[in-house]
Amino acid sequence: MQAVHIALQAACVCTQAKVAFTHLRPMLIRTTVQAQYRAISCAAVNLPIPRPPTSTRFQQAGPSIVNFAHYLKNRAGTLASMSTECTAASATTTAVTTAMSAGAACVDPGSISYLSQSDAASVDQLLMGPQLGFSVEQLMELAGLGVAAALAAEWGPQVVVSEPTSAAASSPAATAPAPAGTRRRRVLVLAGPGNNGGDGLVAARHLHHFGYEVKVCYPKPTDKPLYNGLVKQISSLGIPLLPWSALSPAPLAAQADVVVDALFGFSFSGQPRAPFDEIIRALLPSARPPPIVSVDVPSGWHVEGGDSELPPGGALQPDMLVSLTAPKLCARYFKGAHHYLGGRFVPPPLAQRFQLRLPPYPGAAMCVRIGGAEAGSAEQAAVSAAAEARRIADMRISYERGGLEEAAFSGRDPRDVFDEWFRAAVEGKVCEEPNAISLASCDSGGRPSVRVVLLKGYDRRGFVFYTNYSSRKGEELGNGWAAFSIYWEKLQRQIRVEGVVEKVPEAESTAYFHSRPRGSQVGAWVSEQSQPCRDRAELEARNAALQERFSDPSQPVPKPPHWGGFLIRPTSIEFWQGRPSRLHDRIRFRRNSPDDSDPWVMERLQP
Ligand SMILES: Cc1cc2nc3c(=O)[nH]c(=O)nc-3n(C[C@H](O)[C@H](O)[C@H](O)COP(=O)(O)O)c2cc1C
Repeated sequence: MQAVHIALQAACVCTQAKVAFTHLRPMLIRTTVQAQYRAISCAAVNLPIPRPPTSTRFQQAGPSIVNFAHYLKNRAGTLASMSTECTAASATTTAVTTAMSAGAACVDPGSISYLSQSDAASVDQLLMGPQLGFSVEQLMELAGLGVAAALAAEWGPQVVVSEPTSAAASSPAATAPAPAGTRRRRVLVLAGPGNNGGDGLVAARHLHHFGYEVKVCYPKPTDKPLYNGLVKQISSLGIPLLPWSALSPAPLAAQADVVVDALFGFSFSGQPRAPFDEIIRALLPSARPPPIVSVDVPSGWHVEGGDSELPPGGALQPDMLVSLTAPKLCARYFKGAHHYLGGRFVPPPLAQRFQLRLPPYPGAAMCVRIGGAEAGSAEQAAVSAAAEARRIADMRISYERGGLEEAAFSGRDPRDVFDEWFRAAVEGKVCEEPNAISLASCDSGGRPSVRVVLLKGYDRRGFVFYTNYSSRKGEELGNGWAAFSIYWEKLQRQIRVEGVVEKVPEAESTAYFHSRPRGSQVGAWVSEQSQPCRDRAELEARNAALQERFSDPSQPVPKPPHWGGFLIRPTSIEFWQGRPSRLHDRIRFRRNSPDDSDPWVMERLQP
């Protein structure tokens, strides 16, 4: 499978089989694999497929490979059309990389899923788990290749310079001498200590093969076989590995035409430590860096919140973002010119599990353009605008926090379970107000309304909140029934309650009223809740008058007669736990009346 992947890469990057082998020789070990590359590469560029060599090993593997190559040749319209461009070109690496990106068509960004940090971690776990069987090496290789392909799609390996240069021609790795008037584009890869850095190291290797002049800064090498191997590979290609101290004296723009930011990925959180803090500072807009290509997550950004909470100018602003596997939520804040997706390895079970909507990669492309400020034509701009509006449709997560077993609920009073869940929400600091409930009421015509109120107590009787009895809800609750739901996103839990509603005893309301801050007590007098008022000034004036009236702190503010608590005596309490693929768990307790002599019936509901 890996051989086929690499062969497809070859199909992307090559204008001729010969060029393919120049790029791929370091990776080739077996004659049969070479034959695969040759056959498939030729199919990709519409060249005659060479006769298989006579070796026995090839004869074993050859026919099916050649068939596959023909299949590719016949099937891939994009590949076929690529050939015109490629054969007409001078078969230099410029053409190679252009061909590689030819499949990188622009895609409607609104049709794509965005992953939360935890979902991104789960995706990786699954990919490398027993069911899907990927290794980290494989994923890193394909990710790095995707990054290199995306960079090449926008910035070819050669730049035109006014003075002729022979710099590229002197490099043993150059696939063709640079013509006079061009030089190789300089790419600086900044590699962090984790997987994101590994992706960068792989990208560096591929970029070198594509014909770029690559330098790598890898300040905190990870001493593991995978990373040591990557370092050996790039060293063996003559790619300089420079300490940050060697780069930092001069502005990055003087040293590189493009910077690959592979410092931190989706698993990073917190503050970058030295020297990464300094490196990130050198990438800030104020430092006027060269174009930046960020790998998966722009370094220093929050994986979900992006740069939204960083001070203006305090976040690097990449020109290109290459999202890997699927864009992370932070990609929604990306304002640069080029957004690409790489990491072409998502198998259908994974896509289904996380309800991933990913664009098709055209032909044999290893990256696909999914947006960016310069997404192309006016038509594309219109698509992007429409997509922006549709993004809400893509807001979804996979619920993975646990499940509900009947055995854990059976025989229990649901109010005890409520207490357990509520404590978990409070202790888990799930939000500022875990007691905010969405309270529903109904008017006499059966028309419902809903609003948030704060739950102020619960006990054997039921659930208590406070409000203005003359408000809309106060009126509507007069019909005797209420319902509320409460959702704790961090726990992926919801509780729904329905029941009979009544006012709490006056003494209880009074006691609670006097426990409130004095300003709120006066506020209860100020507001004729739910009634229209002329303007804010009218409200402020009434507040000022009442504050004045209750200004003597030795005198308690009396509870307004129209203000007090409601008690919902439950007849139904449902516990909901989000589960993957929308197969959520629901355990409901119900009884016919709020009377405690009426036993609770427990049942599982379909999601
Ligand atoms: C977080 C939050 C907490 C609130 N808590 C209460 C509350 O405890 N009591 C209340 O009367 N209104 C509360 N409100 C305001 C209500 O949502 C609503 O605007 C108000 O009660 C009027 O609703 P009504 O016109 O349907 O009666 C809260 C609103 C929010 C967003």
